[in-house]
Amino acid sequence: MENKLNVLIPEEVVDDKIRELGEQISKDYAGKELHLICVLKGGVFITCELAKNITVPLSMDFMAVSSYGDEQVSSGRVKIIKDLDDSIEGKEVLIVEDIIDSGNTLRYLIDLLNSRKPASIKICTLLDKPDRRTADVEVDYIGFQIPDKFVVGYGLDFKQKFRNLPYIGVIE
Ligand code: IMP
Ligand code: MG
Repeated sequence: MENKLNVLIPEEVVDDKIRELGEQISKDYAGKELHLICVLKGGVFITCELAKNITVPLSMDFMAVSSYGDEQVSSGRVKIIKDLDDSIEGKEVLIVEDIIDSGNTLRYLIDLLNSRKPASIKICTLLDKPDRRTADVEVDYIGFQIPDKFVVGYGLDFKQKFRNLPYIGVIE
């Protein structure tokens, strides 16, 4: 069956928002160096676009995670598929995510990375589904709050497809 796609957030609106986030982050970290952590795979599009719009000195690292087991219940246990290459000790860390849903993945990541003694950890996400939140996470930079719908594009997939769409779409 063909999936019908509707545009939820057009390309120009996404691009403008990421530029705004980059400007805000550049102001907030003025005089400091920033260490961006991209959460693969979904976070790769926003991470690259955001990095291009940040003006403070910046380094990047990548981490891949997946939720364990049972798909209906998000247990909060997360499997690390690929860990960071570099130490984050003493660094100003900004975790960049595609979407925060239950918040379980992020809660786990924050706790793990905090144990590695960074100077600070903040969170940036392109999309936020606040209605679905079950874990207690504070998000510092949010692109868009969206309703509880399954979205694709700009890094987000449905069965590994649609990540390459330059806009945020909803599958009907
Ligand atoms: P959380 O641990 O429930 O916050 O899970 C977040 C992860 O679930 C995201 O990083 C995505 O990989 C996936 N996810 C949640 N909602 C969507 C969606 O609407 N479309 C695509 N992936 C989603
Ligand atoms: Mg993700």
